[in-house]
Amino acid sequence: MTTEATHPTVDRPRPQPEAATTAPAFPSGFLWGAATSAYQIEGAVREDGRGVSIWDTFCRTPGSVRNGDTGDVAADHYHRYEQDVALMAELGLGAYRLSIAWPRIQPDGRGPANPRGLDFYRALVDRLLDHGIEPWVTLYHWDLPQPLEDAGGWPHRDTAARFADYAELVYAALRDRVRWWTTLNEPGCSAFLGYGSGRHAPGVRDHAAALRAVHHLLLGHGLAVAAMRAHSPAAEIGITLDPAPITARSAAAADLDAARRIDGMKNRIFLDPLLRGAYPDDVLDEIARVAGLAHLRPGDDAVIAAPLDMLGINYYRRYVVGAGEPGPEPSPYPGAGDVVFLPQGKPQMANGWEIDATGLRDILLTVHRSYPAVPLFVTENGAAFDDRLGPDGRVSDPDRVGYLDGHFRALHEALGEGVDLRGYFVWSLLDNFEWGEGYSQRFGIVYVDYPTQRRVPKDSAHWYQAVIARNGLA
Ligand code: FCB
Repeated sequence: MTTEATHPTVDRPRPQPEAATTAPAFPSGFLWGAATSAYQIEGAVREDGRGVSIWDTFCRTPGSVRNGDTGDVAADHYHRYEQDVALMAELGLGAYRLSIAWPRIQPDGRGPANPRGLDFYRALVDRLLDHGIEPWVTLYHWDLPQPLEDAGGWPHRDTAARFADYAELVYAALRDRVRWWTTLNEPGCSAFLGYGSGRHAPGVRDHAAALRAVHHLLLGHGLAVAAMRAHSPAAEIGITLDPAPITARSAAAADLDAARRIDGMKNRIFLDPLLRGAYPDDVLDEIARVAGLAHLRPGDDAVIAAPLDMLGINYYRRYVVGAGEPGPEPSPYPGAGDVVFLPQGKPQMANGWEIDATGLRDILLTVHRSYPAVPLFVTENGAAFDDRLGPDGRVSDPDRVGYLDGHFRALHEALGEGVDLRGYFVWSLLDNFEWGEGYSQRFGIVYVDYPTQRRVPKDSAHWYQAVIARNGLA
C-alpha cells in the first residue's frame, strides 16, 4: 500500500529559503519552540479529580527513582502556568509543546471526560493563544492511568482502543483552539524501558510484553488518528519518535549485525510500520521468536500507517555499537543482550550522554532519504548540566549555549541538504522531573529553584531568545 501523505492539509507554513549569509539564517516561518511534559512539570497529582498514573505508582516503588523523588509537586506548573506562559512570551517562543495528563481527563482510563481536567488545558491553551504562542499538544507522554495498567497495560490490546477513546475526547474539547497534535511521545521508551528493562514505569522486565506493547502503542496511535480525523479533518496530526543514528564500531560482520539489531528495535520497528506500512522482515522474525505473532491482527498494518501530517523527532545522541558479551543489566531491546554501546570520548552532559550534534543532521537526513516525504519537526533536543544559581542571581550555562549552537548548525546543514524541516523545540522550557533520575538532571533553559519554585531564565534562555528574534545564529 502507499503510505504517502495524501491527507488534504490546509495552508501549512511552507518555509522559504533565504539568501545565504555567513551566520546560519533559518527559513522564514521556521517554528522555534520549547517542550515539556505533564508529569514532569505539573505537580498537583491529587487535584481536580486527577487519577493515579503508572508514574505515581512507580515513584513509590523503592529503588525505582533516584533519591525517591516523585512528580507530586514537580515545577508546580499546574498552579503557575500563567506565569510560565508569560515567560514563554518574553522569550519570544513561537510554539509550546505540552502534554495532556490522561489521568486528569479519564481518572480510570475510560469513561466520560473529567470536566475539571479539560478546564485546566483549555485555560492553558487560551493563555498561550492570547500571547500568540502556538500550542502543540502531545496526547501521551508516558503517564498511563494506573487502572489501565492493572488491566494489562500496553501489552494488552484493549489499551489501544482506550487510547483512541481518550484522544477523541481531548480532540473534541480542544480542536477549536489547537491545530497541531501528536499522539504519542517516544513509544520506544514506553515499550522498551517500561516493559523491557523496567527502568521506567511500570517497571516490567519482559521482552515479549515489550514487543506486544510496541504493537499496541502503534495501533493506539493509528486508531487515535482515525478517530480524530473522523471527528474533524482540519488538524495537523503526527507522532513523535526518538530515532537515533546507529553506527557499527567496525565493519566486522558481528558488529554490523549488532548495529542492524539495534537499528531494528530503536528505529525501524516504528518508522517502517508508520511510514511504509509494515514491520521490516528482520524485526518481524525477532518479534515472532520472542513474542509470537498472535497479537498482530489482519488490518492492523493499515490502521498504523494512517497518513501523517508531520513527524516529530526527538534527538539526544548517537549510538556506536558492537557485538560483545551480555551485561549484568537486562537490555531494553529483545535479541540484543550481547550488544555493547561504546563511548566515543566526546564531551558528556550531566547524565553521561555523549554530545554529538552531527548525529542530529544524520538522523534527519536518514529519515528524509529512507522514508516517504513527511514534514519533520525536531520536537525535543537539549542537554542537562549542573546548573547553579549564582550569587548575582544569574544562571550561567555556557555548555548549554554551546550545545544548542552546535545543534542549530546541524539543523541548518540538514535544511541545506533539502530536509523538509519545519521547526525545533528545545527540551526543556523548565528544569523538571527527569523520570528515573528524579530532579538530579536539569534540562531547562529556565532554572527552577525547587524550594521556592522561582523561575530564573538561564543564560541559554536569553541566548535562545536572541536566536528566535533574528531567526538565525549570530
Ligand atoms: C526524552 C523524553 C523527555 C525527557 C528527555 C530528556 O526521552 O521524551 O521527557 O525526559 O528525554
